[in-house]
Amino acid sequence: MSVDIEMFELFKQELQLCKVSKGEVVAVLSGGNDHPEFAQTFMLAAQSLGATTYHLNVPKYGQLKLAGVQGRHALSGNQPAIDALKRADMVIDLLGLLFSAEQTQIQAAGARILRVMEPLHVLKQMFPTEDLRRRVELSRTLLSSAKEMRITSAGGTDVRYGLKQYPVISEYGYTFEKGRWDHWPSGFAFTQATDGEVNGTVVLMPGDILCAFKKYIESPVTLKIEKGYIVDVQGSGTDALLIKSYIDSFNDPRGYAISHIGWGSNERAKWHNIAASTRLNEEHVMHSLSFYGNVLFSTGPNSELGGENDTPCHLDIPLRDCSLWLDDLHILEEGEFVHPELMVRA
Ligand SMILES: [Fe+2]
Repeated sequence: MSVDIEMFELFKQELQLCKVSKGEVVAVLSGGNDHPEFAQTFMLAAQSLGATTYHLNVPKYGQLKLAGVQGRHALSGNQPAIDALKRADMVIDLLGLLFSAEQTQIQAAGARILRVMEPLHVLKQMFPTEDLRRRVELSRTLLSSAKEMRITSAGGTDVRYGLKQYPVISEYGYTFEKGRWDHWPSGFAFTQATDGEVNGTVVLMPGDILCAFKKYIESPVTLKIEKGYIVDVQGSGTDALLIKSYIDSFNDPRGYAISHIGWGSNERAKWHNIAASTRLNEEHVMHSLSFYGNVLFSTGPNSELGGENDTPCHLDIPLRDCSLWLDDLHILEEGEFVHPELMVRA
């Protein structure tokens, strides 16, 4: 396999932000035939910084059926693989451990984990900066100390989230702290409401994004929310029908629950990417989730942050042009940061 020098340089810069250093052990985890060039290039980049590296490849869909092991994950029941990852200082996760019990074990052993799933061109477009980290970590601190979030918009959104029960997660696109997980690329902080404590109305407006369908909302949809659940979906266009049809297809009323909430901070992420990209079928939705000044609203599970709702029905819906307050602290005004410390420093 030949080495793409541009990929090598980019991965090296990323691992430098992650403070990979001489004597460290960097493991790459992948499933099936996915991303072999990423695995090789990450190892070469880590070696160039003095690290020892290895690549752990597992069957993409796990050993579950043959071994008779229950679990939702390719590493479920594969303790030798988990143990091998626990011995690393850093794991590059090309497989997707996402908030699983296996991921928690590896983090608890001290390994920091970097999830990578976007193609090279998106990794490049949204490359993280230390200033992004500063703003996302401040967002996490502000969310951690707030009791209530209020979101409004000219379109008619007015909703309140009671906070405090659940932790706050920051994602800025690299990680150098022992046991900390992050995702390259990203750029947001989020938490979720205390059980039952979301009340009000969210109006999805044209330009908001249904990430599950890589599609912009084209007609307003009014979601009435009581005690943490959507109790009514109104809208005369196709979008209200799409949302209802999709959630109902899971045959799980917990799909109408409200999930994580936060805001996007990555000034390199583009709201218009879904319209402008010529390679959308290769991409995930990190541009949409991360763009600067969005309110990242979502529905469905809350198990990622320790709640009991583990429905597989999840919708991420980044909203434009919202105003947001944490208690009396004004964060966003119509999609623009007004908190001075959350603004990009030149
Ligand atoms: Fe989500």
